Amino acid sequence: MESLAELEVLNQLAAGRGKRAPVALRINPNVDAHTHHYITTGLNENKFGINEQDLPAALRMIAGSGHINLIGIHFHIGSQITDLSSFEDLCVKVLELREWFHTQGIALPVINVGGGLGINYQHPNHCPVADFESYFRLFEKYLKLEEEQTLHFELGRSVVAPCGSLITRVVYLKEGIQKKFLIVDAGMTDLIRPALYQAFHHIENISSERPYTRYDVVGPICESSDVFAQDFLLNESQRGDLIAIRSAGAYGETMASTYNCREIPASRFSDNI
Ligand SMILES: Cc1ncc(COP(=O)(O)O)c(C=O)c1O
Repeated sequence: MESLAELEVLNQLAAGRGKRAPVALRINPNVDAHTHHYITTGLNENKFGINEQDLPAALRMIAGSGHINLIGIHFHIGSQITDLSSFEDLCVKVLELREWFHTQGIALPVINVGGGLGINYQHPNHCPVADFESYFRLFEKYLKLEEEQTLHFELGRSVVAPCGSLITRVVYLKEGIQKKFLIVDAGMTDLIRPALYQAFHHIENISSERPYTRYDVVGPICESSDVFAQDFLLNESQRGDLIAIRSAGAYGETMASTYNCREIPASRFSDNI
């Protein structure tokens, strides 16, 4: 639950069904994730989570609600976090807040630290697996659990992003004044991260072993931001070549849209690598 207003709605819904809803409060810990500001979610200026100063009011509301069962606290400070010290800061904050809940006479069986672990978008072939080892070791070291307390994670990107590529075909090559544009048939509607966050995705021509040359790899949509990469070194490419835009297994298809009358891209799954 992210806000007092949501708690009220949930209480009403649970009351209507004659049930008690188990709830973890999502708290905004004011911890900087040191990632792109569009995917930073745990600072006071962000819209997510209940601010610390509103916690007493949330507890009063829950105490008087009748249909809400507080079982834990929840955090999610952001995404694509590669500076693991942000998670260390989160652990310090979680322990501080757990102590505060104790002073209110509340035990918390569930602690949920959200997701956020980043991946290496630059080198998907050399670093195909996120640094899960350091990540989990950090929580083990800094977040000592109490008896009967369980720690929950909600990792998304780190698990699935490296497993998917957006495969697209070169429609044609356009010689600009200073640049060569490689126009492909995928666009920002299929993978919006570069247009939305200026995100980097590694790109490969999987049809060509010709010498390398630099291209702006762009989509066919009538938007100047419909660009996957600028001045990117690719094997010389031509109409019909297949291009793989890597690390698209997370926040690709899920953020796809039908803008400009485009279709949602088809997904194909395979166990072969
Ligand atoms: C509440 C919450 N938990 C977990 C995640 C997954 O984050 P990530 O993919 O960075 O691991 C998100 C992503 O938006 C989220 O909003």
